[in-house]
Amino acid sequence: MNILLVGSGGREHALAWKIAQSPLLTRMVAAPGSPGIALICETRPLKVTDVDGLVALAREIAADLVVIGPEAALEVGLADALTEAGIACFGPTKAAAEIETSKAFSKTFLARHDLPTAAFGVCETAETAAAFLDTQSAPYVIKADGLAAGKGVVIALTRAEADEAVADMLGGRFGAAGARVVIEEFMDGEECSFFALCDGETAVPFGYAQDHKRAFDGDIGPNTGGMGTYSPALVLTQALAKQAFDECVLPAVKGLAAEGRPFKGVLFAGLMLTEDGPRLVEFNARFGDPETQVLMLRLADDIVPWLKACADGTLAAMPRPTWRDESAICVVMAANGYPDSPVSGAIIRGADVKRPDAVVFHAGTARDPDGTLRSAGGRVLNVCALGATLQEARDRAYAAVATIDFPGGFYRSDIGWRAL
Ligand code: AMP
Ligand code: GLY
Repeated sequence: MNILLVGSGGREHALAWKIAQSPLLTRMVAAPGSPGIALICETRPLKVTDVDGLVALAREIAADLVVIGPEAALEVGLADALTEAGIACFGPTKAAAEIETSKAFSKTFLARHDLPTAAFGVCETAETAAAFLDTQSAPYVIKADGLAAGKGVVIALTRAEADEAVADMLGGRFGAAGARVVIEEFMDGEECSFFALCDGETAVPFGYAQDHKRAFDGDIGPNTGGMGTYSPALVLTQALAKQAFDECVLPAVKGLAAEGRPFKGVLFAGLMLTEDGPRLVEFNARFGDPETQVLMLRLADDIVPWLKACADGTLAAMPRPTWRDESAICVVMAANGYPDSPVSGAIIRGADVKRPDAVVFHAGTARDPDGTLRSAGGRVLNVCALGATLQEARDRAYAAVATIDFPGGFYRSDIGWRAL
């Protein structure tokens, strides 16, 4: 099979690494890819939002499947354009992806289908926001409506902070994404990322992981796109996983189909495991980053038939996915200043060394013509390892981190602490 992989992050590097192991693969091209992905397959410098360019590239390489990584490509309708061109693709249509790309759509959808989630209000003015805040108590949860790369959420401990966050967002801090704000009831519990593959009708649980969203050790500092993950996440017992699938994921897949937005691809449920059971923090319309990194390490199956089955609508005929018994961990090395103002251009040494018991995915790097690797983004490297136990995986990952010379970056030293 010829596969076009769209994206450039650590998630896409992990997907490329796993897809490259498939005996079904003839040729893989990534657009735009990254210096890390370029070590695995051909890359083409196209933007993930260049719909016409990507459709043309898929035609040029006679792609049997296009795998869409990032939500930005879904939001501009890449899946729709590929489908229209008769090209099989893994990833939902623009309309189905609104489950992620519009928090206002997502929250009203959850309410329409009576799915367990926080009470909320969608506000376009400071006055309506203040009125809704009056109905809540601290801590307050305030979100920009549109895509803000995981950074458009403020958990305010005081009303003054809440008012300030609302003013900040409506005042244009996130551009158009903040034209509306969503204010939510605060849910208390442990978070877990749950994945399900979907082909429009059928959904299959496809692994789960726990992410560390805060920037610094001890879960303090600003919210980020994710500073590290591990899988399996033992907080999600088999019983809770079944409950989450039955009560949160399946009704959503059915609801989207019933509303004329059948979902094909991977539905990512961000769960809060509360005293009353799993409740939805949000849905995403794509694989998690850096959750995918640990899932790809643990997946025992060839990933390609799974991705193709989602595109072809044949998931019901697939067996259950199989996972390695080992634990996997991913430590994110981020650029100094992340998430607010990451500093790019710092030299990195020792990232691409072949390691027997760890793998390093590139999340935001650039390579100079002379081969020097530099940071080029907020999250820069994802250092991942498997182990018989989580402790062993963690020791291996941090041993690998210690061999990487990246003075312009930082990482959390406590990934996996909740489970250890
Ligand atoms: P989101 O971008 O919606 O996933 O939110 C980012 C993070 O903010 C989540 O991973 C949670 O840690 C936190 N969060 C969001 N919504 C809530 C909520 N209603 N209650 C508690 N924490 C929340
Ligand atoms: N790690 C969280 C996300 O991918 O949104």
